[in-house]
Order: sequence, then structure tokens, then C-alpha cells
Amino acid sequence: MVNRIVLNETSYFGRGSRAKLGDELKSRGYEKVLVVTDNTLMNSNVTKMVIDVLEMNGITYFVYLHVKPNPTVKNVQDGVMLAQISNVDAIVAVGGGSVIDTAKAISIIIKNPEHSLVTSLDGVVNTRNKGLPLFALPTTAGTAAEVTINYVITDENNMKKMVCVDVHDIPVCAIIDADLMQGMPQQLAASTGMDALTHAMEGYITKAGWLIPDMFHINAMALIYNNLEKAANEKDEVAVEKMSYAQYIAGMGFSNVGLGIVHSMAHSLGALFDTPHGIANAILLPHVLKFNGVVCPDLFRNMGNAIGLDMNNLTDEEAVGKVVEAVQNLSKKLNIPQTLREVGISKEMIPKLASQAINDICTSGNPREVTVQDLINIYNEAF
Ligand SMILES: NC(=O)c1ccc[n+]([C@@H]2O[C@H](COP(=O)([O-])OP(=O)(O)OC[C@H]3O[C@@H](n4cnc5c(N)ncnc54)[C@H](O)[C@@H]3O)[C@@H](O)[C@H]2O)c1
Ligand SMILES: [Fe+2]
Repeated sequence: MVNRIVLNETSYFGRGSRAKLGDELKSRGYEKVLVVTDNTLMNSNVTKMVIDVLEMNGITYFVYLHVKPNPTVKNVQDGVMLAQISNVDAIVAVGGGSVIDTAKAISIIIKNPEHSLVTSLDGVVNTRNKGLPLFALPTTAGTAAEVTINYVITDENNMKKMVCVDVHDIPVCAIIDADLMQGMPQQLAASTGMDALTHAMEGYITKAGWLIPDMFHINAMALIYNNLEKAANEKDEVAVEKMSYAQYIAGMGFSNVGLGIVHSMAHSLGALFDTPHGIANAILLPHVLKFNGVVCPDLFRNMGNAIGLDMNNLTDEEAVGKVVEAVQNLSKKLNIPQTLREVGISKEMIPKLASQAINDICTSGNPREVTVQDLINIYNEAF
């Protein structure tokens, strides 16, 4: 059996590590960059913390700041145009998954112009060239987009979230600086943290799981389970920093093995209802874990042990139930909505959501085979 691991060339961790950006750019000879970010981050002080580093190091920069959450093809096209007009050497992404994913798509298209039709990048695509060098500084502790080989873009014409998989999109350098995450509002920290927990758990039980990603996933879920509440609800500085590592560790895992149907189902919700990714995952995760538990109860025992539950003397069903309950309780303590109804999903759309989710690239990684009817049932349960 041959397995592959793809990771960043260089990554930095720790508060203040954004200061390393200047040296990293200069040592590679980059003098002019496109900063990809969004309005909220630009208006709060977050993007400025990184722009200050560029200015201190005499790096010329242009800013594309219109990325929306669940970013669109139009976001990518506008960013590509700006990168071309300004003729930049590299891209610096400062933001959550939406910003980093948009930056990845821009970087790929600049170096692979035959893919300027953004929808041609949907799915697993073997582009010819590495993207324009990308430096990613995440501001949420969730997606790990800074270390994954995926990016997710909404095709607004077809109301579909395209999951694009391409080793050429991985940032050359990731800088995980918890200072950029400290100011997240409670609900954002909570929901993006639940996204990270979903990566760790789905990544762990996915079909392609093996030794090295398993190590990442088990450690990530322990860190997240034990720090998310403190990080989100109390903004505890140590816990926020631990979450910054935990989400990255989960990313080193799932990027290399894939996910499962929590993500397939969340992608449909994002495409059709613009549901924030972390919220969609948090609502679906306990229901999908329950569905999947029957085929891999031993993995659930390992997950339970990893997060510190007492898993002794339990039947398979009890072991699965205990993990599901722990996840659900955490989500409640974080004040995350518990049902799809609460986030404005209409019940009539469930068949359409399910028919999209079955074709999502993450479905094939799910440990249990699924039918459209299974997905309908899970959406209904979560409703
Ligand atoms: N590439 C991958 O591997 C991968 C994995 C999972 C999810 N995703 C995708 O990532 C996207 C979700 O990303 P996300 O959950 O990080 O959220 P996001 O990037 O969509 O950001 C959500 C909101 O939070 C704000 N925000 C971000 N950081 C902040 C901060 N520090 N302080 C205050 N506000 C802040 C943003 O401005 C935005 O309004 C989805 O499109 C999802 O499909 C990608
Ligand atoms: Fe995710």
C-alpha cells in the first residue's frame, strides 16, 4: 500500500509569527504581492496586523477585499483580474477559509491560464503548474485551508459548491498566529471550531484513514474537545492558541485522506442556503456520527478515549452513543443552533439537498455506503 502526504513547504506557529512573513517573502525574492482578504477583516484591525509587516519590510501590495463567506466564482474572477493588472509575484491571504480558498483559486488560474473558466477546476484536477506562491495567514481556527490541497468555491449559476482538489494549490508558507484569531466573535470561534472537530472525526473514520493521518486526527480531536469551549466562550488566550494548532493538525490529516458525508451535506446547505460552513457541520455531525458508528465502533472507542471519555465496559452501541452525546453536549455549551429549522432551511428542499450531496466528492470517503434516501433521512433527523 502506498500513501501520500502533502504539506506546506514552511509553516510558522505562535503568537507574533506573522512577523516572519517579511523574511519569507524577501528570501524568495518577492517584492510585490496581492493581499486577499475581506471587508470585515479589513475594517477590524486584523488585516492591518499583516499589512504592517509588509510595510515594515518595504513590500509593495495591492488589496482584493471583496471575498464573501462561501466565496463565489465572481470573487475568483475579480481577484484574478487584479492579480494580472498589478502583476504581482505572490499572494498573501489573510482570512478564514473563504479568503484562503479564493486566494488558492486565483493562484492556480494565474499559473494555469487554460483554467480561466473557474468551473473547469471542479473536482480532482491535475493542473500543469504550481500556483502563484501563496502565503496563508488564517484568522479562524477551523478550516485549515492554509495546509490543505482543497479549495471550495460556489458556482453561483448552478448553486453548487465546487470542491476543487489539486496539489498545486497548497500554500508554500502557512503562518498560524493566534493573535489574528483572538478577536473572533463567540459564534464564529464556536462554529469554526466545530468545523475543525468535524475534520478530525470525519478524517479519522474516513475510508482512506491510515497511521500518520490517524495520529494527527486523534491529537487534534483531543485538543479541540478540551479547548474549544474555553477558547470560544471565554476567549482564554491559551485555549485560543491551542485551537490554532489543533485545527492545523486536523488539516494535516484530512487533506491527505479526505472526509465524509458531514461535509457533502454541509456543502449542499452552503450552496443552496448560504449556511455558514461551521454551523452546517456542527448541526449535522452528531447525526452522521450515529449513522456511521455501526460500521466502525472500534474507531469510536478510540475517539472516545482520545477525548477523555470513560469507554470501559460499553457495548458497541453504547460506545458510539457516548461519543455522539459528548459532541452534542459540546455544541450545546457553545450555543450553536441544534437544528436545520433554526437556521432557515426549508423542509421541501431536503430532496434537492440530498441529490446534490450524494454527488459531492466527500461522499466517496464516508465509511458507510450511503443512498440518497439515507441522506434524506439524516437531513430530516437534523431538521
Ligand atoms: N480548503 C479547505 O480545505 C476547506 C475546508 C473546510 C471548509 N472550507 C471552506 O471555507 C469556508 C469557511 O471558512 P471559515 O469557516 O473560516 O469562515 P469564513 O472565511 O467564511 O469567514 C466567516 C466570517 O467571519 C469573519 N472573520 C474571519 N476571521 C475573523 C476574525 N478573526 N475576527 C472577526 N471576524 C472574522 C469573516 O470576515 C467572515 O465574515 C467555506 O466556504 C468552506 O466550504 C475549506
Ligand atoms: Fe470543513
